[in-house]
Amino acid sequence: MAVEIGGIGHSVKRKEDARFIRGKGKYVDDVKLPGMLYMDIARSPLAHARIKNIDTSKALKIPGVVAVITGKDLVPLNLHWMPTLMSDKQMVLPTDTVLYQAQEVAAVVATERYIAADGVDAIEVDYEPLPVVVDPIKALQPGATIVREDREQKDNHIWHWEVGDRAGTDKAFADAEVVVKQDLYIPRIHVSSIETCGIVASFDKIEGKLTVYMTTQAPHAIRTVIALVAGHLGLAEHKIRVISPDIGGGFGGKVPVYPGYVLAIGASVLTGVPVKWIEDRAENIQADSFARDYHISAELAAKKDGTMQALRVKTIADHGAFDAAANPSKYPAGLFHIITGSYPFQKSFVEVDGAYTNKPPGGIAYRCSFRVTEAAFTIERLVDVLALEIKKDPAELRMQNFIPPTAFPYKSVLGWEYDSGDYGRALKLAMDTIGYAELRKEQAEKRKRGELMGIGISSFTEIVGAGPSKDFDILGIKMFDSAEIRVHPTGKVMVRIGVKSQGQGHETTFGQIVAEELGIPVADIAVEEGDTDTAPYGLGTYASRSTPVAGGATAIAARKIREKAKLIAAHLLEANPDDIEWKDYKFQVKGVPAKSKTMQEVAFAAYTNHPQGMEAGLEAVDYYDPPNLTFPFGSYICVVDIDRGTGEVKIRRFVAVDDCGTIINPMIVEGQIHGGLTMGLAPALYEQITYDEQGNIQGGTFMDYLLPTAMETPNWETAKTTTPSPHHPIGAKGVGESATVGAPAAIANAVVDALAHLGVRHIDIPITPWKVQKILKDNGVAE
Ligand code: CDP
Repeated sequence: MAVEIGGIGHSVKRKEDARFIRGKGKYVDDVKLPGMLYMDIARSPLAHARIKNIDTSKALKIPGVVAVITGKDLVPLNLHWMPTLMSDKQMVLPTDTVLYQAQEVAAVVATERYIAADGVDAIEVDYEPLPVVVDPIKALQPGATIVREDREQKDNHIWHWEVGDRAGTDKAFADAEVVVKQDLYIPRIHVSSIETCGIVASFDKIEGKLTVYMTTQAPHAIRTVIALVAGHLGLAEHKIRVISPDIGGGFGGKVPVYPGYVLAIGASVLTGVPVKWIEDRAENIQADSFARDYHISAELAAKKDGTMQALRVKTIADHGAFDAAANPSKYPAGLFHIITGSYPFQKSFVEVDGAYTNKPPGGIAYRCSFRVTEAAFTIERLVDVLALEIKKDPAELRMQNFIPPTAFPYKSVLGWEYDSGDYGRALKLAMDTIGYAELRKEQAEKRKRGELMGIGISSFTEIVGAGPSKDFDILGIKMFDSAEIRVHPTGKVMVRIGVKSQGQGHETTFGQIVAEELGIPVADIAVEEGDTDTAPYGLGTYASRSTPVAGGATAIAARKIREKAKLIAAHLLEANPDDIEWKDYKFQVKGVPAKSKTMQEVAFAAYTNHPQGMEAGLEAVDYYDPPNLTFPFGSYICVVDIDRGTGEVKIRRFVAVDDCGTIINPMIVEGQIHGGLTMGLAPALYEQITYDEQGNIQGGTFMDYLLPTAMETPNWETAKTTTPSPHHPIGAKGVGESATVGAPAAIANAVVDALAHLGVRHIDIPITPWKVQKILKDNGVAE
């Protein structure tokens, strides 16, 4: 029986699940080192306050407390501030002022975790409250409380960023037959991954070597940052090893550097013993990087027949107390300028202003490519607002306007070059699958009876695979990625890559890429990531960049191996290399299938019988700098029914058609889409973090922060089209974030559609029963 290769397109079962489903995964909190100490963090109860005094004496008297660290202790080491990934700086511990509730104020190191917690309780801080600003619009007004007194610039404005043709867009709007405008608020949310953040830092004073086990999505970048920030303390990059073990979900929230990491490293360097810090759930939600928090004002200009012409968008981005977003340096608003979406606008202008407020820092790419969710939601909502204005079916309006398949590669008016797409095909498949025409008839009948049913569409375009090094870097480090492949003499393979899975199944899918390229069964291929001592340098996994970037590196490294292997095969077959072809996963003499060699035979020869003059061995490395990003897309259709008594929105059906080019593993992609859809449902109907006027967090526990469970999650129906990326080595585009990006607009559009006859044009997400019921009551249709 032929051996199963399990290459591209096969639903190979996830290799990593063997340990995950048996409870044998190894997470940071599973790391236990001899003599290890535990750290806990005291946090500010106030959102803005002067620290008059920190009294650590009672904490230090508790048996088992080894040390208490305050900002003043860090000043001589110059570690009280650290750089953020967006070239801002962030306090590690404050010396005089706290800027948001739950900010780190002091750290206690103890022999047991519970003793460290007792130490935290015993720290006495004398605060003098200061005025608080939580609303970024108020923060930008003259006379507002200044959040960052450390800056020379005495206001809360961080940066202004704009792209497009302002004058040309203004003229298009002045001349337009139809203009629609919509203000939208995309609220602050949190990734809430199953595993919170944590670190075990272990400094070996004899070797001068720091080993760090850490929940990071980007271990190499962290190693470089540690060397740059703490080089003056003797931490050199070759003596720093960052190990990112199994990770229970990252979604962008494990890209930034948190003060807890720095404190644990500092504590281990000072004590010479390992120090563990594991954040608890409340700390994770209350203090770690948030996502979204965009106040958007968007306008669309069109002809009366619905032809879209121009887009004008003004946004205020709330970054909290420090700009600790993880965007590529060149783009402070991430890739928000994908906002023209699936439509060929002639003119567009986008401007974003960043603001400081007394809230936790961040602005991370929560399962999206740096602000793409905000962009997709805005344009897909706006298209529906236009459809209502000109009384056109939203599906028809989209079909009328889509960038046609013949226009690819398509240069968007805001500067992107979309690689490939067929938007009409995806929407048609979604409409056929859900039975769109029938649903519209049903809706009309129900409306006559006073029943509330809505149909919402989202035909989004994504942008993933950061990125081409000419435009993409983080703190100056270019955003390439890497793969190293070693074929052992017996034909077994070790693959090491610069990215790092947090549950996406890389050990399986990257093995499948190599299996396809080398004809070696996926079962014989081990994939390792996340250890900077062994993996080649890479920028890590976030923003769905693994497949577009490291996937490209893996395919090219495998092809380098195949090139060399071909020469060895020619030697073994006593043929001219030009007469050798790679067919059916074997090297064959052209036209003589009987004369062939498998990759395993060639691998053995690479160490035992390679041609004279050739280097022994069968290994290759590739650092892949993608020529472009990839542009996955999809069309989602959602059907909702609304309870006129409670205002509750029930998702009756949701069809998701996705296109991520060549699919490596259909089962894994399906899983990515299911999870992504649930993470899109979450902000549409449930999740948000709000603050009161004093900066007290209102959604700081899972009692208030409504993470959808299996009970709330509808039955997702998925389908696909396949439009390969022309520039990616295997034609693949990313997929991990598509559903989170595309789903919120489909759901919001469905709810607005159900209520449109009442004059409703927009409801800000999350669309809670309370908001809907108020609309029903105001219109006298509540039951
Ligand atoms: O960067 P991240 O791993 O989060 O996202 P991704 O590149 O979109 O991939 C998510 C998972 O789906 C990985 O295991 C990929 O290899 C897999 N995938 C696939 O099988 N086929 C694609 N065309 C894209 C992703």
